[in-house]
Formats: sequence, structure tokens, C-alpha cells
Amino acid sequence: MKNIFIFDTTLRDGEQSPGVSLNVKEKIALARQLAKLGVDCIEAGFPIASPGDFEAVRAVSQSVEGPIIAGLARTSEADIKRAWEALKNAERPRIHTFIATSPIHMKHKLKKTPDEVLKSAVDAVKLASSLTEDVEFSAEDAFRSELNYLCELFEAVIAAGAKTINIPDTVGYATPWEFGEFIKAIRERVPNIDQAAISVHCHNDLGMAVANSLAAINNGATQVEVTVNGIGERAGNASLEELVMALYTRRNYLKADTNVNKGEIYRASKLVSTLTGMLIQPNKAIVGKNAFVHESGIHQDGVLKERETYEIMNPAMIGVPGNNIFLGKHSGRHAFKMHLKDLGYDFEGEVLDKAFKSFKELCDNKKIVLDEDIIALIDTEALKGPETYQFSYLNVSSGTNIVSTATVGVNVNGVLYEQAAIAKGPVEATYAAINSIVKQEFILEEYAINSVTSGRDAQGEVVVKASYQGKSFTGRGISVDVIESSARAYLNAINKALNMTKNYSSEKAEGM
Ligand code: KIV
Ligand code: ZN
Repeated sequence: MKNIFIFDTTLRDGEQSPGVSLNVKEKIALARQLAKLGVDCIEAGFPIASPGDFEAVRAVSQSVEGPIIAGLARTSEADIKRAWEALKNAERPRIHTFIATSPIHMKHKLKKTPDEVLKSAVDAVKLASSLTEDVEFSAEDAFRSELNYLCELFEAVIAAGAKTINIPDTVGYATPWEFGEFIKAIRERVPNIDQAAISVHCHNDLGMAVANSLAAINNGATQVEVTVNGIGERAGNASLEELVMALYTRRNYLKADTNVNKGEIYRASKLVSTLTGMLIQPNKAIVGKNAFVHESGIHQDGVLKERETYEIMNPAMIGVPGNNIFLGKHSGRHAFKMHLKDLGYDFEGEVLDKAFKSFKELCDNKKIVLDEDIIALIDTEALKGPETYQFSYLNVSSGTNIVSTATVGVNVNGVLYEQAAIAKGPVEATYAAINSIVKQEFILEEYAINSVTSGRDAQGEVVVKASYQGKSFTGRGISVDVIESSARAYLNAINKALNMTKNYSSEKAEGM
């Protein structure tokens, strides 16, 4: 059995998904979950890209133990030094440097000759290797590069100190047969290939990222770069859960497996979806809501008689929670704390108090509180950054053929501000009232609502994208009252915008 090294780039390539932007607190929470999941390497960000990215890579390097922590850098000296600055406190740091090698990228994007690109790559790897032993080199758009040139370049970067060479299909153009052949050819033609690990990084533009990664493994790749839920640029990257479960489920045929702790997959998937605001399509393999649901009578009958008639994987194995009811209205703080621990949250002090208060409020509004309710509540509430605007109350009047009215109360520095607004619908009226408290131009770009569990009293989880000064911010809110979830989600996006936008003029905000 070959052991395949899982390089997770959810925090870097995944965060490059349109409209996604995570704060440092969220990135640390996610990195901790990735460490629990047992990935071998976490690419925590692209330190030179922004101060926020730098801070996130530094914070993850300092606080997450276990996996290698990688930071991305172009081949310039400034990029590599900045990446090292962010990574240097990691237990096991890795500099990941890259440059494009395809004719189209070299000519139009880089405006460099192949020789210049080769020199930049070698110089970058030498510099990175003088800072750390663990250096990965990626040839961006490798699959559309000229094979002889690519082999020459890989030979040179390995000689310069690269310990991993990464072969991306940056635009998701390959098919599995071709990609497998491509990896095999590189393996056969690069004379010093035994001194480096072969990695692949497949994008999903034609829906073949996982298949291409498997074909690469079959032809000698020992590292795959993936993201949780397959999020990433455009159609995303190879999905971690699909790749890991394909290797595990078909291990006798594929003769390869990973170190991933499969029981943490579902939790990681939920957390990524909650924090990024990217909902998971119901029929998504492994983690979609319907992935283990049997609708037709024939299938149900089969599964009842023998689960394996229609199930090739056991949902419990990836950590899908059962309908467990451990806690309720009468549970105390200690029982709550211990149960949170079982669910993977080690909370103390203020964070625990806040979580317990939200849980008690939920018990007042929902008869049966399931683990999924608690997880959704905690991920939404406990991971919030600082809140300039705190939801206080909402009063809505709405109906058929009448104008909706909303009155919203928001606390700013302990002072309650209230505004009322009318509109065609209750959400629009609520958002108009919030806008007049905030006194800023926030434009609602996307709005989605999802029920956390089934049942008439289920919590509604709202995810919004609001733009401010041309940048999008995701917000989420949860409540058994969906208009309240909507208000909370909008305020969450506003607070994030304020925390992330330096030039926000706080004097403009009412109450400040
Ligand atoms: O898709 C790509 O080529 C990349 C590289 C930076 C590895 O993300
Ligand atoms: Zn990529």
C-alpha cells in the first residue's frame, strides 16, 4: 500500500474562490480542524498577497501543531523572504514557490523567455533552500507546458534543492489518461527525480480533478493537492473528501491510502461550508445532504435488508452525526462543556459562556436540539470576530398585499440604536433598517437560506454576500426565525467588512 501525502490548500487556493475571504480567527479554526483531520501539509496562505494573509500564515504557523505548514511565494526574493517571515515559527515549515512554465503564460503573462523562467525558478529554490530544508516548487500550468522544457526545469530545481516538484493542471484541461501519461513521462525523463516527491495539483474545470489526481497516483505521484469540498478558483480544486474516500474505498484496487482520519471529514466539510458561506450541493459526493439518502422504494428495501446493497461507504465512518439527543433545556453548563468536547470543541471561560447562552436560547425555541443544531450554532456564533454592531432585537410586520415594516435594534458600544423601515418584503425592510443604523453603502449581492435539520422548528441558516467599497464579505446568521437569521447574517457581513477594511470611517457609523 502506497501512502499518499495530503497537501491541503483550502486556506490558500480554496480561499481564492470568488467572494470568499476568511479572517485570521476563522483560518486558525479551520487549520486546527485540518490538523485533526490528519492532513500532512496545510498551505495556510500567500503571505505577500496582503497583510491579512501574512498574519494568517504567521498565526497558523505559531498555533497549529502536527502537519507541515506551507506558505506560497512567487519566485521573487521579496515573496520568498515574506513567506519565510510568516512561516519561520512553524514546527515544520515549507516554502512553496512557483512560476508559470507554459508558452502562453510565459509569453503573455510573465513576458519572459523560457531561459529567464528557468533561471528565476532555480534562483528562487536556492534562496528558499537557504532558509528551510523543505522547499516545494510548482510549475504553474505545467500540463500545457512543453514536456522537454518542463523536464529540464524540474531537473534544475531538484538540483537546486527542491524536495517536492508539483505538477499542476492549473486550468483543468487534462483527461485522466493523458495526465497519467504526462506524470509517467516526467518520472521517466527527469534523471534526479528520485531526490524529490512528485506532487499534482488538479483544477476541476472539466470535472476531472479527482480522476486526474488518481491517474497521477497510479503513475508515481505521491502527493496530491486538494481542498475540502473542492472549493477553489473557478470550478475549484480536487476535493479532499472524494480523493481520500476513493483511495480508501478502492484501496485493494488502487493500492494506496492516506493518513487522513476519515471520521473528521464531515466536520471539516461543514466547517468549511459555514466559514466560507459556500453551500454544498445536495448531491455532492461524500458530504452532500443526499450522499447517503435512499429515495426509491427498491433502494430503501435493499438497504434495510443489507446496507451494502446500495451503500459502498458507511456514513458513520466519515463522521456524519446520528440523530443524537444528549442535551436539552435542563442540561447544565458542565454537561454542555463535556458534550462540546465530544463534538470537538474545547471551550472555556467567556467563549463557553457565550456558547452556553446561545444553546439555552435555542432550547427555548426548539423542542429537539440535535448535534447538528449545536455544531451549526457554535460554528456561526463562537467563531465570530469582533462585533461593532451587535444584534439586539427585531420586530417585523408582513403579509400578503401589505407593505412590510421592520424595526431593528442594534447595540453599538453598549448603546442601543433603533431604526424602522418599510419595503416590499420583510428581509428587504430589515436590511433597510440596518442600513440606516450603519449609514454605509453595503450592497447585498447574494442571499441563501438553508435549514440545519429537518422539522418545522428547524433552525434556518442564512448566508449573505454583501459588498462594501467594491469588496465582497460573507456573513452568516442562524436562528429558528429566518428573518432574524437574515438580520444576523447581514450584520455579520457588515462587522467583517469593518474589521477587514482599514479605511472604514468609524465616525460615520451611528453611535461612534
Ligand atoms: O493552480 C495552480 O497552478 C496553483 C499553483 C500556485 C500551485 O495554484
Ligand atoms: Zn491552483
